[in-house]
Amino acid sequence: MATGIPRTKWQSAPHHIQPNGLNSGNTDVHLSYEGKKPELEILNTPPANLRQLWPSNAGHVTPNRLYYGDNLPILAALAQDGSVRGHVRVVYIDPPYATRSVFQSRNQTDAYMDLLEGAHYLEFLRERLILLRALLADDGSIYVHLDDNMVFLVKAVMDEVFGRANFRNWITRKKCNPKNYTRKTFGNVADYILFYTKTENYVWHRPVEPRTEARAAKEYQYVEPGTGRRYKKVPVHAPGVRNGETGKPWRGKNPPPGKHWQYPPRVLDEMDARGEIYWSPTGNPRRKIYFDQSQGVPVQDIWLEYRDAHNQNIEVSGYPTEKNPAMLQRIIEASSNPGDLVLDCFSGSGTTLNMASHTGRRWIGMDNSREAISATLRRFAKGLEPMGNFASKLESAEREEESEDTLSLFGPEETAKPSPAKTDRHHAITDFALIAQEPGADDLADAVGQWLEWKGESRIMQFREETVPYKTGKPQKLHRAKRRKQRR
Ligand SMILES: C[S@@+](CC[C@H](N)C(=O)[O-])C[C@H]1O[C@@H](n2cnc3c(N)ncnc32)[C@H](O)[C@@H]1O
Repeated sequence: MATGIPRTKWQSAPHHIQPNGLNSGNTDVHLSYEGKKPELEILNTPPANLRQLWPSNAGHVTPNRLYYGDNLPILAALAQDGSVRGHVRVVYIDPPYATRSVFQSRNQTDAYMDLLEGAHYLEFLRERLILLRALLADDGSIYVHLDDNMVFLVKAVMDEVFGRANFRNWITRKKCNPKNYTRKTFGNVADYILFYTKTENYVWHRPVEPRTEARAAKEYQYVEPGTGRRYKKVPVHAPGVRNGETGKPWRGKNPPPGKHWQYPPRVLDEMDARGEIYWSPTGNPRRKIYFDQSQGVPVQDIWLEYRDAHNQNIEVSGYPTEKNPAMLQRIIEASSNPGDLVLDCFSGSGTTLNMASHTGRRWIGMDNSREAISATLRRFAKGLEPMGNFASKLESAEREEESEDTLSLFGPEETAKPSPAKTDRHHAITDFALIAQEPGADDLADAVGQWLEWKGESRIMQFREETVPYKTGKPQKLHRAKRRKQRR
């Protein structure tokens, strides 16, 4: 087991220390590439010119906002908004992955392009990360979802932006079913989520998974005579030598070499009196951990149960690369409290926004794809749809072929999590403002018209005349935009 001991306990002569000492000087690592801008220049990005498209009543106050446009100037606008800057508790982003691909929805509509590469890609993401850091609360967290194309370099960028000390996890997610048609490589079923916090004091609710009956019986093998309680035995000592009480003999027994007791003798006596210590026939103490007191298995950094929606045949929005809603629920609940502000500036079909709303959080979403905004409005109004509703005949044939090629390697422990929205009745999400970057607001006329129809509002409204400029500028309070006469 690779458990280190404190450096002060090292007794041998240090044999590869440099003449001027180990790690002397600055040990930070910096990436260098063409086009890397100074941080200050990025923080001074000119803010977007914005227009509120819905509701047309600018006085309508809601903290939830869906922005249409390039997220860089919109983030810059939010960085000037005192109600947002420093108040975002959790950011999840699922940006393009530098795949050199273009993506269409399941209904064949163009959704978005993912064509930036190398240094251009890295700087595109770094600019957004620097602004996102400014928006995060001091106890906030950020999760960045990527695949193996760029995750390594983005990790180095995030170490620079957020500080190496604020790196928490590199989560591996199983994204799809194993495939039989892998060429001369191992099959790729993983993508990754980098988890950082802004500081070392951050909101954290450790997620746990309930133990299955089978696992409980295997792990908690012993049954206590008399009570019938199921338990397991664990050591009552821990690594490292201590000179205090926990390093002294207890009941005449020293802790094993290189170890100390986990508790002072007084506490161990109390535990023993409660029957929580097991004594082996040779007189060695072990702690009893009872199944009925277990809160479940703490979640680790490999996530097997959140395959993408279309890989589970669960309900989907039809937007390409949409993520599993249950995975977003886990992230949001682990790193925020009800009422907190959640932000996703590559929000696609609105998975994060939907789950923020579902878990009682406030939210801000952004996307520069018209199809993404339409998919989000459709999801808000009507919920998700069964997978088959989107599939063309060709796709069905492809899927049949694919399923023949799909190995079923899922054990009972890693069965997929259905979307929480699937089991619950859909509740339309209407408490938000739709805001667009100018120029470009007109592109959304059809999507807004459709939304109004779903809401039973008149579609006759003059799209332009009914919308109002939206300012997130300096002393601006939430949604206090003035109504001005529009010029076409
Ligand atoms: C991988 S998809 C996100 C999918 C999303 N997680 C979901 O569950 O539906 C990436 C999204 O980033 C958006 N995007 C790319 N560049 C952008 C930019 N500069 N500003 C705003 N959105 C952008 C794309 O339109 C696309 O919808």
